[in-house]
Amino acid sequence: MTVPQHVAIIMDGNGRWAKLRGRPRIYGHIRGSSQVRPIVREAGRLGVKFLTLYCFSAENWGRPSGEISILMRLLEKYLVRERKTLMENDVRLTAIGDISSLPQHTLEALRETIALTARNNGLTLTFAVSYGARQEIIEAVRTLAQEVRSGVLHPGQINEEIFHKHLFTKTMPDPDLIIRTSGEIRLSNFLLWQSAYSELYFTEKLWPEFSIQELYLAFEEFSRRKRRFGLTEDQPQPKLLEANPPL
Ligand code: IPE
Ligand code: IPE
Ligand code: MG
Repeated sequence: MTVPQHVAIIMDGNGRWAKLRGRPRIYGHIRGSSQVRPIVREAGRLGVKFLTLYCFSAENWGRPSGEISILMRLLEKYLVRERKTLMENDVRLTAIGDISSLPQHTLEALRETIALTARNNGLTLTFAVSYGARQEIIEAVRTLAQEVRSGVLHPGQINEEIFHKHLFTKTMPDPDLIIRTSGEIRLSNFLLWQSAYSELYFTEKLWPEFSIQELYLAFEEFSRRKRRFGLTEDQPQPKLLEANPPL
């Protein structure tokens, strides 16, 4: 089995999972958040280097405030509860997205867990929270425009590599595999730039049902894919953009 270097997961379907059981959506979110630990551990054990989880999108701020505050509290709980396990498994936590809009408590828990795990060398676990790919691209463009205006950058120097360095994901390679649960066949504003050559895997399973077995199924499917990056099958694979060293 080929283990992808970078796996990104759109963890979708918590609400439907709860609804199917006649329970409120929050019940699905609770179950969904407890599904994260075994997946993180197994991904690390298999040798995945980067695991990026879509936890909360920029558009999710439009949900009812009660659901938002529960999601934020669940995130905070996870960040505190999992510190020990993250340390034991040598997992380094990072975040992408507009984290400054998180409630103070959640932001503090996130910053503390990031700082605590900063020196771990195993899996890099990235939480995409308050994340939107279009917003990320606009932010990059804004910074580039400022750099051009201040004279540190010439417009002709802007290329894919420079652009990559201005994205939230500057310290990671692009995802090799993007998994989405719950049967929806879309990216919902997730890693739009970075997914140019990602393999996409969609499963009907709802996120609370996404077990280690399901992760294996996704990796097996990934192993069967032939990645060509625009070339022919006989040519050597092009060298992909390397991840920049962590800041
Ligand atoms: C994914 O589950 C979690 C978040 C988006 C925060 P949903 O809450 O989107 O569940 P469904 O898609 O409505 O079933
Ligand atoms: C995508 O799921 C965001 C996360 C999983 C965090 P959504 O449930 O928000 O996406 P749509 O609305 O179905 O596209
Ligand atoms: Mg959804």
